[in-house]
Formats: sequence, structure tokens, C-alpha cells
Amino acid sequence: MPSVLLVGATGMLGASLSRQLKEKYPNWPLTVYFRNVQADYWFRNVVGVDTIEHGAFEDTAKVRALAAEHDIVINTGSSFDPTLSQAIVEGLKQRRGSQKGTLIHVSGGGNFIDLRKDGKYSPDSKVWNDANEDDIKLINSSMLNGAADRLILDAGNEGNINTFIVCQALTYGVAEGPLPSLGIGYKILTGNAKSIGFVPYVGDGSALLSVIHVNDALNFILKIVDLAVSEVVTGPAESRYYNIYGERVAWKDVATVLARTLHKKGLFSSSEARSVPIEQAGEGEIPKLLGSNMLMQGDRAASLGFKVTARSILEHIPEDLEAYSF
Ligand SMILES: NC(=O)c1ccc[n+]([C@@H]2O[C@H](COP(=O)([O-])OP(=O)(O)OC[C@H]3O[C@@H](n4cnc5c(N)ncnc54)[C@H](OP(=O)(O)O)[C@@H]3O)[C@@H](O)[C@H]2O)c1
Repeated sequence: MPSVLLVGATGMLGASLSRQLKEKYPNWPLTVYFRNVQADYWFRNVVGVDTIEHGAFEDTAKVRALAAEHDIVINTGSSFDPTLSQAIVEGLKQRRGSQKGTLIHVSGGGNFIDLRKDGKYSPDSKVWNDANEDDIKLINSSMLNGAADRLILDAGNEGNINTFIVCQALTYGVAEGPLPSLGIGYKILTGNAKSIGFVPYVGDGSALLSVIHVNDALNFILKIVDLAVSEVVTGPAESRYYNIYGERVAWKDVATVLARTLHKKGLFSSSEARSVPIEQAGEGEIPKLLGSNMLMQGDRAASLGFKVTARSILEHIPEDLEAYSF
């Protein structure tokens, strides 16, 4: 019975995953790591976790020590914090016993944007296929989630721990949990719109974004947990990198539905999304995403049985945002 440490347990993915893990593997000791003590009741009484540990990602000594005490660490907390990933890797390497520790890391398709600035679809943009190990070898620290991914791939190739990376597209759907989270994808889109006062898209908005429903993502992560405990790990770490996405949608279509939804919720007076040049699409890294194509392909994930069951994000946005006030 492997012990599992789940980091980022109160998030959109983490909370649902904790419940589904405990349902599927009731005898596996499950430790959840999070910082909000208000969530304790839910984890204790709804999920039935074995251990609750409070702390921030920044408490690296604590994360390292906890990782050293568990067989499997699942990180659904941060894909863009290499310091957190480093602490997990170091802890897993320090484990006692004959079995190697296992890291299952959730990364994001932001790695694979083509950095166009005009918001246009391009048939020449690179499609990143998980079945092509040369694509995965190109992952580097200049990519949105690349620093953590690279560190983990390198650790997996060194061979002292087993690594699996599930790289998922922007994620929609409704999560369960003690304090249900909108998820990072929706937080980025709605937060950016709020900060500039309207829902933007760049240029003609024909650039394509890869997206996935949270339930399809969770089913696949559980499949990887199964695989991690049932099969002998061989081959390079790049062969255990999985891209999962459900559909590719034009940024203009996402922006159009989002604008209508946020208008209905009283956030904006206009129900229209607005075409802007990239310089006016928001702050920080977000315009980069909005101006780009994100073309993921998951042949390797498909060969493990990854399936899309959810309806389109364009149908989902109004119901996903229903319960939230902005
Ligand atoms: N949602 C997406 O569109 C998407 C797509 C691809 C990849 N991913 C990746 O998947 C993972 C999970 O995403 P998500 O959407 O489930 O995220 P989320 O709902 O925002 O949850 C993030 C979790 O991390 C915790 N957290 C954040 N900063 C922390 C800190 N400094 N110390 C301790 N805990 C901290 C949050 O705790 P609090 O509740 O205390 O804030 C929460 O439990 C992330 O790595 C994300 O990048 C997400």
C-alpha cells in the first residue's frame, strides 16, 4: 500500500483528486498538504484523509521532509514553481527503503504557446506531440512551466526517482472541494478581464487554445497513478510525459462567451468581447497567451486510453461561472 502526499490539495484539481483517490484506494495512507485551516473539516469528514499537514509551498524544508516520508508525491499545486518541485525531488531522493519514490507532476500547456503576437491561427505553428520524445526534450526554463518540468525530467533521467508529468490544457468545469476553486485557467481569464475592464482577444482571435474539462483530466491522472504503481518504470523520463486536451477553440469564441457571461453576472456593462493589439490585452504574461496558438497533441496519452467525455468549453463557461461572484 503506497503512501501518497498530495500537494495543492485545496485547488480545483487537488480537492477532487483527493476524494477520488481515497474512494479508489481506501487503504492507501493519504496525506494532504495545504495552508487554509478552514479546509480541515472537509478533508477529514468528506474525504477521510489519513493526515493533514498545513504549510505553504515556500516551507521547502517541510515539503522536503514530507516527500521523504511518502512513496508517491502528487503535485497539483504549482506547475511554475521550480523551488517547490526541487524540494519534492530532494525529499523523494532521501527516502529510505529499496523502492524508488515516485513524483506525479501536473504541468500546463502554457509551455507550448507559439508566441505569435497577432492572435492569428497559423497552419505552420508547431504542434507539440507527447509521443515525440524530441518535442519533450525541447522543454526548457523559458517556457511558462518549463523550469519545473525540466528539473523533473532531469531528475527522472538521473534515475533515482520515477517521474510522470501530466501536461494539461487550460482547464474548465466545476470542481468540488472545501472552498471550490475556479482553477488557474479561469482565474487568469476572469482576473485579466477585470483588471482591464473588458474581455479582450488579440487581432482576429483565430489563434487556437487547447482546453480540457477537469473530469477528463482527473480520470487521466488517476490512470497515471495506476500505471505508476503497477508497471516497472523503464525508458527516459520524456517517455512518461503526457499531453491531455479535449478540444482546440479560437480565442475569439472563448472571449465572446466569456464576455456575455460576465455581462450577465453584472461585471461589465458591455456583453461584447473586444479585439485589441497584444499591448492592450492585459498585464504580465497573460497577453502572450492570448496572442498565441497553443497546439497540443496527446498521442501517447491516447494510447493509454485518454478519452474526452465533456461538452465544449463554449457550452460550459456560463454554468461553470454560475456560482462565482467577481
Ligand atoms: N486550471 C488550469 O487551467 C490548469 C491548466 C494546466 C495546468 N494547471 C496546473 O495544475 C495545477 C493545479 O491547478 P488548479 O487550477 O487546480 O489550481 P488552483 O485551483 O488555483 O489551486 C492551486 C492550489 O495551490 C495552492 N497554493 C497556491 N499557492 C500556494 C502557496 N504559496 N503555498 C501553499 N499552497 C499554495 C492553493 O491553495 P490556497 O487554496 O491556499 O490558495 C490551491 O490548493 C497547477 O500547477 C496548475 O498550473 C492548471
